[in-house]
Amino acid sequence: MATFTKLFFTLSIFHLLACSTNAQLIDNFYDQTCPCLQTIVRNTMTSAIKKEARIGASILRLFFHDCFVNGCDGSILLDDTDTFIGEKKAQPNNNSVKGFEVIDNIKNSVEASCNATVSCADILALAARDGVVLLGGPSWTVPLGRRDARTANQSAANSQIPRPSFNLTRLTTMFLAKGLTASDLTVLSGAHTIGQGECRLFRTRIYNETNIDTNFATLRKSNCSFSSDNDTNLAPLDTLTPTSFDNNYYKNLVASKGLFHSDQVLFNNGSQDNLVRSYSTNEAAFSTDFAAAMVKLSKISPLTGTNGEIRKNCRLVN
Ligand code: HEM
Ligand SMILES: *[C@@H]1O[C@H](CO)[C@@H](O)[C@H](O)[C@H]1NC(C)=O
Ligand SMILES: *[C@@H]1O[C@H](CO)[C@@H](O)[C@H](O)[C@H]1NC(C)=O
Ligand SMILES: *[C@@H]1O[C@H](CO)[C@@H](O)[C@H](O)[C@H]1NC(C)=O
Ligand SMILES: *[C@@H]1O[C@H](CO)[C@@H](O)[C@H](O)[C@H]1NC(C)=O
Ligand SMILES: *[C@@H]1O[C@H](CO)[C@@H](O)[C@H](O)[C@H]1NC(C)=O
Ligand SMILES: *[C@@H]1O[C@H](CO)[C@@H](O)[C@H](O)[C@H]1NC(C)=O
Ligand SMILES: *[C@@H]1O[C@H](CO)[C@@H](O)[C@H](O)[C@H]1NC(C)=O
Ligand SMILES: *[C@@H]1O[C@H](CO)[C@@H](O)[C@H](O)[C@H]1NC(C)=O
Repeated sequence: MATFTKLFFTLSIFHLLACSTNAQLIDNFYDQTCPCLQTIVRNTMTSAIKKEARIGASILRLFFHDCFVNGCDGSILLDDTDTFIGEKKAQPNNNSVKGFEVIDNIKNSVEASCNATVSCADILALAARDGVVLLGGPSWTVPLGRRDARTANQSAANSQIPRPSFNLTRLTTMFLAKGLTASDLTVLSGAHTIGQGECRLFRTRIYNETNIDTNFATLRKSNCSFSSDNDTNLAPLDTLTPTSFDNNYYKNLVASKGLFHSDQVLFNNGSQDNLVRSYSTNEAAFSTDFAAAMVKLSKISPLTGTNGEIRKNCRLVN
């Protein structure tokens, strides 16, 4: 009897802890309340990517920058107003994050189908997954039930989103601060198999670094002058297949053709070399690990239950 009571107590306390510390996201959150949600997101992303393949990359990055600032709470989607400073103009985002119009389009269709039900944070999480799938990458089930922030934090966006000039120690520390490991850093950086980056962000790498393939540096210099003239000129993050979600990012690193300093530090005689080499020859392992790490990323500090709100317009608090 005493044993039974003790067991009962242990289980109750365990249950209580589980509930209080871990307001869970669940896979089928909108199955009853918005059954068309996933179809709407997939269809809108399909036509957006048909127009411009890069948009899949832009939305994946938007999601990463949302999750790294106060969790995946849609805070990055909020516009600045006269009385509100959002995250869009924070240094890593200013003139650089894209895809807001596509999120608006999805939100409009979702509201028409099931109003005041689906958060912008969840829409962004689904759109990011669909961008990867539509560009040929792995799929995963997105846990849902996030709610939208009523605030944003520009200074946190400035200090908590990693920069392309950072070294491996600093990148690892920033990921650890979000509950992500060094391996998560390496596999999530594989997102740089799609999308584009500006000259101003890789200039120092192509002109001043020595752990870079000479032909690759010459190629990038041709559209990125040493002076600031070409600051916003774009180059593909993956020189081999810029619009396919594959493991070529790692093949580039092994060949010293990482575009950013923060890319090449993952293969520079450091702790991540073995994992990079393994992803460069094993696309299936990359796909599996990337999908798992995206689910982990998507669970960073969500607002759930009665916290936050379901925004009517992703750009404005209600
Ligand atoms: C590890 C630290 C990271 C750093 C320092 C970094 C930095 C950058 C920079 C500087 C750009 C180019 C921005 C521009 O020129 O406008 C970029 C683009 C991009 N990043 Fe990252 N990133 C990191 C990790 C990630 C992660 C974890 C993801 C997603 C899981 C991601 C997804 C992307 C994508 C898809 C693009 C292309 C965006 C586009 O074409 O619009 N990045 N990143
Ligand atoms: C954002 O970019 C614009 C245009 O380049 C610039 O004028 C502005 O100062 C930047 N904002 C911040 C907060 O850096
Ligand atoms: C949702 O739509 C219904 C019917 O169109 C409308 O009556 C209701 O006010 C809407 N609810 C919200 C919260 O916008
Ligand atoms: C915003 O983020 C900064 C830096 O992370 C933090 O010090 C500050 O307390 C945050 N502000 C609010 C209002 O949460
Ligand atoms: C990495 O960068 C930090 C911050 O800039 C610096 O303090 C540290 O010495 C660097 N570490 C290495 C191994 O270069
Ligand atoms: C390259 O390094 C030199 C010497 O440290 C510095 O003066 C120059 O500004 C750097 N150039 C770039 C493009 O970063
Ligand atoms: C890049 O800058 C050079 C001058 O350094 C200029 O002649 C060239 O037109 C620029 N290229 C582009 C594509 O902007
Ligand atoms: C050079 O930069 C321009 C402007 O971003 C871009 O449209 C073009 O594709 C780039 N050319 C090459 C060869 O990378
Ligand atoms: C790693 O170290 C070896 C031996 O010191 C050297 O030959 C090689 O260039 C280094 N590779 C990188 C990417 O730094």
